Amino acid sequence: MDTYIVGNWKMNQNLESIKTFFEDLNSIPTKNIHAWISPQAIHIPACLGLAPSFIKIGSQNSSHKVEGAFTGEISPKALKEIGASFTLVGHSERREYFHETNDLLLEKIKMALDEKLKVIFCIGETLKERETGKTLDVIKNQLSILAEISEAQRENIIVAYEPVWAIGTGLSATSSQAEEVHSFIRKYLSEIWGNNQASLTPLLYGGSVKPENIKELLSQENINGALVGGASLNSASFQKLYSSQN
Ligand code: PGA
Repeated sequence: MDTYIVGNWKMNQNLESIKTFFEDLNSIPTKNIHAWISPQAIHIPACLGLAPSFIKIGSQNSSHKVEGAFTGEISPKALKEIGASFTLVGHSERREYFHETNDLLLEKIKMALDEKLKVIFCIGETLKERETGKTLDVIKNQLSILAEISEAQRENIIVAYEPVWAIGTGLSATSSQAEEVHSFIRKYLSEIWGNNQASLTPLLYGGSVKPENIKELLSQENINGALVGGASLNSASFQKLYSSQN
């Protein structure tokens, strides 16, 4: 299974810092690992122009429609047209601050896949849900919408498990906490999609991943990569994440 290091820049960076970031990464030794970055949408064209060819650029969000009267939305068709490769869907910040529901997220995933974007579908429980023993129920409920994805499109989905309590807190899940959920995700995907597709689907972990803990997380059987916020903003740190695998 391939390994993925995906930077989620959220609403950070500016044109100057982006230029420096990619200049710094321009001549690093490349590896057989997928390196992806999702800047804020307005910076996608600049990133596409500046990123070295081994880095793919995507979006943090993508609309449930391709065009029309949806003021402020980001069209998956326009993303594809300008050269974006992928989009995140269902990040916990989108679910929390923008009230994105399962129904809406399913529409977003379908539209993005129709436009031939890869989708990183983000799921994860809150601290309260974990403390009350609901983690796996929450994960199952969030994942259940993937049963609606057509067989031919499933290969373009990546799932990112990001416990909400670990995002931006410095408190990563332990590798065994993460692996427990990842193996559950793999098992659930095999129920809805069959064993073969489930075994081929990359499962990323996100939530306070940094150069110090990435190796241990990625050593787990069902963790195929990382979705990284804070530690992806700086080129030296991103390079360490990217180079952490042998
Ligand atoms: P973090 O964010 O690495 O800063 O915890 C991860 C994410 O939100 O994708």
